[in-house]
Amino acid sequence: MMLNVLSFAVWSLTLMTVLAPLAVDSYPSNRDRIPNGYRVPDPCRPGRTAQGVGHVLADGGGARNGFGQAFAAAGGWTSALCNADSDGDGISNGAELGDPNCNWSQGQTPESTSGITHPGINNDNPNCFVPPWLWKLFLGWTVIFEP
Ligand SMILES: *[C@@H]1O[C@H](CO)[C@@H](O)[C@H](O)[C@H]1NC(C)=O
Repeated sequence: MMLNVLSFAVWSLTLMTVLAPLAVDSYPSNRDRIPNGYRVPDPCRPGRTAQGVGHVLADGGGARNGFGQAFAAAGGWTSALCNADSDGDGISNGAELGDPNCNWSQGQTPESTSGITHPGINNDNPNCFVPPWLWKLFLGWTVIFEP
């Protein structure tokens, strides 16, 4: 039993060490191209921000989510993209990202920098692979690996 716990810990740490660099800095430029791109919380992993806001994998990569598809189609932060509700939770992308009046442009401080929510994940039904409460148990790791 003790051995199992120990080997689990060793394997997990090894895996995290190997995989963590891959997760860092995916699409840094796209994060600059949406309001509060560095402040979007990952609803499935409390305390972490989503690095790949437009992707299914929160650390970037994988298929695009609804917001990522809309962003790619729009080619940037347009008023149509801002007014759309890409994750269908009843709150527009602009309202989720702190640009309720859709007047933000790159380099500016958005109208609001707090209360940011994820524009590609439904707030009411985030469909987390690992439940947030379970993720919280591993908060120490998120502190270690959050860049
Ligand atoms: C956007 O409009 C709001 C409301 O008129 C204003 O408070 C805010 O300063 C404007 N933001 C920018 C970046 O122009």
